[in-house]
Amino acid sequence: CGIVGYTGFQDAYEIVINGLRRLEYRGYDSAGIVLENRNNSFEVEKTKGKVDDLVNISNQLKGTAQMGMGHTRWATHGVPSDRNSHPHLSNNNKIAIIHNGIIENYDTIKKMLTEKGFTFKSETDTEVLVNLIQYFMDINADIDFPTAVRYALNEVYGAYAITVMHEDYPGVLVVGRLGSPLAIGIGEKEYFIASDASPFVEFTKEAIYLEEGHMATISLEGGVDIRTINENSKIEPEIQKLKLSLEQIEKGGYEHFMLKEIFEQPKSIHDTMRGRLLVDEGVIKMAGIWDHVEKFKNANRIIIIACGTSWHAGLIGEYLIEEYARIPVEVEYASEFRYRNPIITDKDVVIAISQSGETADTMAALKLAKEKGAFIYGICNVVDSSIARITDAGSYTHAGPEIGVASTKAFTAQLTILTLIAFKLGKHNGNLGNADFMSLIAELDAIPKKIEDVLSSTHELVQNIAKDFVGVQNFLYLGRGYNYPAALEGALKLKEISYIHAEGYPAAEMKHGPIALIDENMPIVIIAPKKGHYDKIVSNVQEIKARKGKVIAVVNRGDQQVSEMADYVIEIPETSECFSPIVASVPLQLLAYYIAVYRGANVDQPRNLAKSVTVE
Ligand code: G6P
Repeated sequence: CGIVGYTGFQDAYEIVINGLRRLEYRGYDSAGIVLENRNNSFEVEKTKGKVDDLVNISNQLKGTAQMGMGHTRWATHGVPSDRNSHPHLSNNNKIAIIHNGIIENYDTIKKMLTEKGFTFKSETDTEVLVNLIQYFMDINADIDFPTAVRYALNEVYGAYAITVMHEDYPGVLVVGRLGSPLAIGIGEKEYFIASDASPFVEFTKEAIYLEEGHMATISLEGGVDIRTINENSKIEPEIQKLKLSLEQIEKGGYEHFMLKEIFEQPKSIHDTMRGRLLVDEGVIKMAGIWDHVEKFKNANRIIIIACGTSWHAGLIGEYLIEEYARIPVEVEYASEFRYRNPIITDKDVVIAISQSGETADTMAALKLAKEKGAFIYGICNVVDSSIARITDAGSYTHAGPEIGVASTKAFTAQLTILTLIAFKLGKHNGNLGNADFMSLIAELDAIPKKIEDVLSSTHELVQNIAKDFVGVQNFLYLGRGYNYPAALEGALKLKEISYIHAEGYPAAEMKHGPIALIDENMPIVIIAPKKGHYDKIVSNVQEIKARKGKVIAVVNRGDQQVSEMADYVIEIPETSECFSPIVASVPLQLLAYYIAVYRGANVDQPRNLAKSVTVE
């Protein structure tokens, strides 16, 4: 979900609506806005659907207010509907709230409030929270609005970021955070609030990232007053300089953010390596690893935890680290790890991979690992994100903001970091000899060029291939070794944005099930580079062709055996096996993208998905 708030001298409607558009990628099954008009009363509009739908019903609010807040919602409690959309008002209609996250004990509080005579219009946990705030003001005549918010927050548990306004407190925004991110932008005579800095980058470069368990009261008169929620202790704000530029978060001439981000990969991979990969000096510089290299060297094992695409990157990380550094690696879904009482000791290193750095399951799994004494390391794209902050050390991917919900450049940047880590550790612990190290890093250095080459040589071809598969219902993706996770990721991309059912499988496992599905209607993407069990893949392709499956093969230039059998051939340059998932992923991203575009799907904001899943 996304939150935007404003208090200042500009038109609050414009700022909130434009901000919501920038945050739409976070989740978007409904949207709403509340403004404080010139008579200090609230105007609320909310609707199921997108920010555009909200604009259709709220245009009349333009130019009417200088304070307000808005929300895009991704349903957790209660179906997407007008009624369940935020903002929610308290029973006396004086307090308005928007909220990201979950209040876990809302049921008990709802019962208590119902007994006291409160009524509820929606099924949301949020409406319970706003009424709890009213309740505290009702029963304590001498407390002010921020104090009531604090009392209420002390009663709830769960994960949240909230923004609250009160009609009797004009110009005042109260915000709080536990688990979900919240940034406060500091302008001249104006303040902004948002789930990340993108809604206000063009207005100010100064921001405060609210810390876990903190709340703030914000107004033109009082500035930003930060307190701890539990003890009300005053906290000195730490103002940060934003590096994000507006151009970075806009589409740059591409039809969709996803296509822009696919095409940015030569640059994003280069940026990930910048200052780290020093080929001429024959070194990889990574302070996060180097400062703790003994931890890694002496680790019993490395556990990688992540969700979604980041989990696929983790699987490739396992191949890389085990092959080059010979340290045992396990990869787990964060959501499974945290609930199964895993065995973790202080001899374990836990690496969390997360583009957003905010994924609730990954965050919770990390906290668990930390409690058990493990050394925790983060690989995040978003600087200063929650995961980046709680880890002992880490490496940013530096891929730049990723807006398309389906992850592309963040994935290849994660692979780049994992490659650097594997080589660095292997070199240090002696498992990767100097000559091999030197030739591998030279090859890695040339990967951005190879991606550029793949983009220009396959773009049109893949676009044409996509046309032939617009109407299919299923897809199978196969690969071996390093390219098995690449097959999983290829399938995930297609599923996410085209809504075609797709499954990734290790090619050899095909015989144990998926082969039963193969007939002339089944398209099968097979990743078959020269280095990487090529002969075995040839047999897999024969097995598929014997059952008349339609083969789309990703092969190296000049390939013969697989190409002769395949129905469609996509050529990529040859690399060492460990780099092939980075290179092979690019045409698979394009394939998913164009199939989705031809099906008329909303590729940047696929239905039901959110860019950053801050709920469990
Ligand atoms: C969501 C996104 C995916 C992403 C996953 C993990 O499901 O839609 O694209 O891979 O979360 O997100 P993270 O930010 O932790 O990498």
